[in-house]
Amino acid sequence: MEEFDIAVIGSGPGGYVAAIRSAQLGYKTVLIEKYSRLGGTCTNVGCIPTKALLDSTHHYEDAMKGMEAHGIEFSDVRLNFEQLYRRKKQVVEKNTKGLEFLMAKNKISVLQGIASFLSNEKLKVVHSDQTETIVKAKKYIIATGSKPATIPGVIIDKERIITSTEALEMKDKPQSMAIIGGGVIGVEMAMIFNRIGTKVTVLEYADNLLGNMDRELGSALAKILAKKGVEIKLGHAVGKAENLGDKARVHFRNKQGAEEELDADYVLVAVGRKPYIAGLGLENTNVVLNDNGTIRVNGSLQTDASGIYAIGDVIGGAMLAHKAEEEAIFVIESIDGQKPHINYSHIPSIVYTWPEIASVGATEEELKKKGITYQVGKFPFAANARARAGMEQEGFVKVLSDPQYGELLGVHIIGARAADLIAQGVVGLEYEVTAKDMASICYAHPTYSEVLKEAFTIASGRPSINI
Ligand code: FAD
Ligand code: NAI
Repeated sequence: MEEFDIAVIGSGPGGYVAAIRSAQLGYKTVLIEKYSRLGGTCTNVGCIPTKALLDSTHHYEDAMKGMEAHGIEFSDVRLNFEQLYRRKKQVVEKNTKGLEFLMAKNKISVLQGIASFLSNEKLKVVHSDQTETIVKAKKYIIATGSKPATIPGVIIDKERIITSTEALEMKDKPQSMAIIGGGVIGVEMAMIFNRIGTKVTVLEYADNLLGNMDRELGSALAKILAKKGVEIKLGHAVGKAENLGDKARVHFRNKQGAEEELDADYVLVAVGRKPYIAGLGLENTNVVLNDNGTIRVNGSLQTDASGIYAIGDVIGGAMLAHKAEEEAIFVIESIDGQKPHINYSHIPSIVYTWPEIASVGATEEELKKKGITYQVGKFPFAANARARAGMEQEGFVKVLSDPQYGELLGVHIIGARAADLIAQGVVGLEYEVTAKDMASICYAHPTYSEVLKEAFTIASGRPSINI
């Protein structure tokens, strides 16, 4: 039996960050991971490989059609599909190697195998050669993440009916793909495959893309994707998918209520993710689940078993890597007796399409629903000098603020570099800065950040100089 102060189960952004913070604070720490590679969903089959493919395909798209206006002409531009995926793999490997280095540097013990609780106080780790290690720790952190969910009538067979994980491991370019779900995975995958010439159809049940974000963002993205040739079918409810051997068929109810079907090389299921607790042996502990299958935790992220904590996707909320990382620091520092802080209302959401989409705080729809009055400051990228110089004129920044005190309520961006610009909105919201104060600081010229300044200015009630 091996004894530790803190045992962390799962090496995703929740788990590895928790393990490192634990070791930094002097706790004897073990990190247990089922797979031979560290990093979890995010590093291996999520954030990092999708961004690698998004970046590569963006370059390809530019080389194909975006450069003539800049006076740069290419001839014989070809896609080397194998290399596209090889580079993605190399990027992932570099990140996983980095994590191995960090574990060694912080003297964290790493056990490869499946962790399963024997009781509230003890767990066993079954290694790939079927040998077992018994682990006893003073505190346990469950960071086992999530797996793709599906809908009734759609069985993921990983051959023709696939998830993002299989889409990130393709051997050949698909000629056609039907994507079920126009959420974050759906639109990022639509952009990757559309850019390389796959005929992409997105079937979305709701009447807008990106249903969790401010409505204007999803509407703007739908137009941009449609212009690129992605077929967006909103208000279409998928009921069934079939593997027909050399292709897949998806059955859905269209907007008018009529049944239709569509054939494609692959049907990609992107209808959300579910907490991953299989094999964890929670039945041997006092851990309690919520109705939706997530692990129930209190404000200190402690489960109903006092020595067991849980963080990241497995406890629900926003299924985002940076949310898992914040919880990792929070849980370790709480155990350490410190007073850490997380503000769940100010966790930014990013969609890495191009233009990028980024959001923090309340949406216009949420404010309306709650009867909260607000004013809007909106400024287009097209009126920004840097955006014109870079030919990145699509999109806008929308700032929602309190009409009486000017407090920021939400910042929503669709436009070039939105993913990085949103940090300014997070600072403003978290520290309750007014739109007027956000507008009164100096933003360098010419930069995309000036679009933010203009939107803050308008939200503060002063007209923009530039529009
Ligand atoms: P995970 O990263 O899922 O890690 C859990 C780990 O636990 C896994 O390695 C698993 O093998 C291990 N495990 C499970 N059970 C056991 C067990 N019994 N014993 C041992 N080990 C176990 N989020 C973003 O913020 N930005 C993005 O750009 C982004 N892009 C994404 C793209 C895709 C295609 C997907 C699918 C997700 C994306 N996400 C993104 C979401 C992000 O990946 C997750 O929110 C994040 O990985 C959750 O971290 P986690 O630590 O909770 O769990
Ligand atoms: P999602 O919840 O974002 O979107 C699922 C979509 O599927 C919804 O729009 C829903 O209306 C639709 N849907 C459900 N049933 C349907 C049906 N029968 N027919 C048609 N449409 C249907 O989930 P998604 O895209 O799978 O992503 C899972 C998680 O991964 C998200 O919570 C997200 O946070 C995370 N992620 C984050 C990324 C980022 O931060 N950039 C990138 C990719 C994933």
